This record gives sequence, C-alpha cells and structure tokens, in this order.
Amino acid sequence: MFNVQYSMNLDRGSFASKVGIILATAGSAVGLGNIWRFPVETGSNGGAAFIIIYLACVLILGIPMMTAEFIIGRRTHTNIASAYQQLAPGEPWFLTGYAGMLCVTLILSYYSVVAGWTLKYAVSSALTEMSTVSDTAAYFADFASSTWSPLCYSIIFLLITNLIIERGVEHGIESFSKVLMPVLLLIMGVLVFGALSMPGAKTGVEYLLKPDFSKITADVVLSALGQAFFSLSLAIGCLSTYASYFKDDVNLGQTAASVVSLDTAVAILSGFIIFPAVFSVAGVQPDAGPGLVFITLPNIFNHVFGGLPVLGYIFSLLFYLLLVLAALTSTISMHEEVTAFIYDRYQVSRKRAASVMTIVSIILSVLCCLSIGPLKDFTPFFGMGFFDFFNYLTAKFIMPISGIFLCLFVGWRLKRELVVEEITNKGTLPVPAWVCSLFIFFLRWIAPVIIALIFVNELGWG
Ligand code: ALA
Repeated sequence: MFNVQYSMNLDRGSFASKVGIILATAGSAVGLGNIWRFPVETGSNGGAAFIIIYLACVLILGIPMMTAEFIIGRRTHTNIASAYQQLAPGEPWFLTGYAGMLCVTLILSYYSVVAGWTLKYAVSSALTEMSTVSDTAAYFADFASSTWSPLCYSIIFLLITNLIIERGVEHGIESFSKVLMPVLLLIMGVLVFGALSMPGAKTGVEYLLKPDFSKITADVVLSALGQAFFSLSLAIGCLSTYASYFKDDVNLGQTAASVVSLDTAVAILSGFIIFPAVFSVAGVQPDAGPGLVFITLPNIFNHVFGGLPVLGYIFSLLFYLLLVLAALTSTISMHEEVTAFIYDRYQVSRKRAASVMTIVSIILSVLCCLSIGPLKDFTPFFGMGFFDFFNYLTAKFIMPISGIFLCLFVGWRLKRELVVEEITNKGTLPVPAWVCSLFIFFLRWIAPVIIALIFVNELGWG
C-alpha cells in the first residue's frame, strides 16, 4: 500500500569540506530565532536561570536529535521523503518526510516576510533613512501594513535564496556559508563590543545574567525546551537534507555538538547586544515580539549615540545586516529541502527544481505578507490570517509531531547495527558502546516524552 516509487539523482553533489559542513549546518540553525526570540525568552524567564536550563535542553535534546537526523540523511544520501522510503520500504514512515517538507514550505512563507523586513531595515539604515525616523512605531506600522513594499522585500529575499540554491551544494550553499557565517560572527563581535560600551550596559547585562530562580516554573522549563527545539531547526527535515550531502567520513556526533555549540553561542551573544542597547536609554523596557527589533532598537540607535550619529548609523546598519545574514542562511536550508526532493524525485535540473520551490514560496509569502496588510481582516483559519495560521500550525502541531516520529523511527524502527554503524562510521571512530546504547535509549524513551510534554503544554492542555 505504501510502496511508493522513489528514484535517485546520482549526481546530487556533496559538501567538500568539514568546515563547510559545520558552517552550512550552523547557518541553518542560526536564524531570527537566536537573535531575536532567544534574548526575549531569556529576559522574561529568569535571565541566567533560563540560560542554564536552556543549555541543559540543548545538550539533552539538541545533540541526540540532530545526530538522529544526520543518520537518516547521511545513510541514504537522498531527500527526506525518499530517505524514509529507503530505510523503511512499504511502510508509512515516509509521511514524516512529507510532513517536514510541508512544514518548511509553510515556515519559509512567513519567515521570508520577516526576513524581508530585516532587508528593508538594512537598506533604510544604509541610505540613512532610518536615522531620520522620529516615530519608529508609526514607521514600522506603516511599512508592515502597506501592500507593495513588504511584498517586494520578501520576494527579493526569496530570489536571493534561489540564486544561491541554484548554484549547487558545494558552489552555492557551502561557498556562501563559508563567507556569510564568518561575516555574521564578525559583525556579532563588533556589535557585542559596541553594545557593552553603551551607557547603561551594566543594567542590560544584569537583566540578562542575574539568575532569578524564583521565575523557574514548569512553564519556563518547557519554554526553554521549545526554544531549543525550534532554534536548532530540529524535526523539519533541513538537517537530514544537509546530511545527505555529508561524506562518509564525517563524524556525525561531533558535527552535531559543534553546530549546537555555535547556535547556542550566537543566541547568548545576541542577548549581550540587545539588552545593553535596550537599557542604554533610561525608562525603556524590552518588548517581546517584532516591537523589540523593529521599533525599540531603531529608536535607540537614533538616540543613544547623541553627538555621534555616525556610530548610530554604523550600529544600525550592522545590526540589520546581521539579521539579514542569519535569516538568509536559514532560508537557504529550508528552500534546499524541497529543492532536493524535486531534483531527486523528478530528475529535473537543479535550476528548475529551485525555481519550482521559489514560485511556490513566493505565492505563499505574498499571502502571508498581505495578511498583515490589506488582508488583515481576512481571518478564515480559526480567526487567524495566513501569517499567524502558518506559524501556529507549524510550531504547535507539525514540528512536535514530526519530532516524536523522528525519535521513534531512529530509536525503534532502524536496526541498532545501522545506527551504530552511522555513529561510529562503520567502526572507524572510537565511540564507546555505552554511548551508542545511551543514544538509542534516549531516542526510544526520553526525547519522545519530552517533546510530547512540550506539545501538550503549548496547546494549553497541560
Ligand atoms: N532555526 C532557525 C531560526 O532560529 C530557523 O530562526
């Protein structure tokens, strides 16, 4: 019944270097979720106490689940749907692969809207327009709710993504990641230094780092788990797709540990940019959601540098450039997942496969964009428009359910020997047997329960 045919494109490319693999995969994980959502979650959930719990979550949940995704992709060297079909022929597990592709397509459609906003703010900063804005709340509201401007920016963002994707795995994704990620990290370093030199930086650092254990409740623990899950791009298929381009000598566990470390470092460093900046203006409180990045911070960049507007200009330009780069490395990986499927399955050229995904993404992105502007009263999905509904459906349903199936698949369905072969690269890596056993035990018993708890909590059933 489930015996769907799959075919493989034999010349599908691979990553050429280990550093390229780490930078591309970290690029997939590092995104708007790190630079924007993580500091807000940290600030409102007990500062350092939240960070400690978050670190535990990425270690307990992040590294094993990322390794599980790598196993599926690297073992099969094919797209996510075909990978499940190869590993469990004739069984319905492949639906997890399709769920991943549906998930990234929906995420890409609203993510590209926000990515478009970051591009607009980077361009406005470069053209000095941002520094002349006196009411940043009105500026953002006018822009986001207008018809053409946000739409054009999100389409431009998707076209840039398309250009990189169609150049291929090595010459597109890997080459660009090798440039974009170091530039991103360099900009972060400059911004952290700049933010810590601002007046009031100490208050910001205290707000971020002072552990307030009284705020730690079951809800906060589950928020940390959710943040870890989403920030690492777990269970949506991007990581398996990238792993399908890994060579056979890549150490999967070590790569997962490096990617998780980079992603976590970027998230924590973002806090050291945002909070010192926010607290540098007396009376300003960090705002959750889009207001923080698109209203509060531009206002601060315009005022905090007082007599030296050139510093405000540089800070603003670098900050929005940072967001653009982080978003771009993530949109590339989401786009690639579906491009790889079309390319492998239908044996078309990579350029054509990428164009199909870009056209679909543009159509959905236009709907998301309009649902914030002219179509904001069109709310057919339980009172939600396209943007909110796609976000709700992916975060609350598809990702957690796919995550549970991913763990069950690698933990229970795959043969232990296959899993051990992948973790140890066919016995060539000195990974102790107890590590392999712990990994499988974790995927069988611990991770699915943790994700089910997040799922139930997010739905408000807990
Ligand atoms: N993991 C990516 C982010 O954090 C999608 O934004």
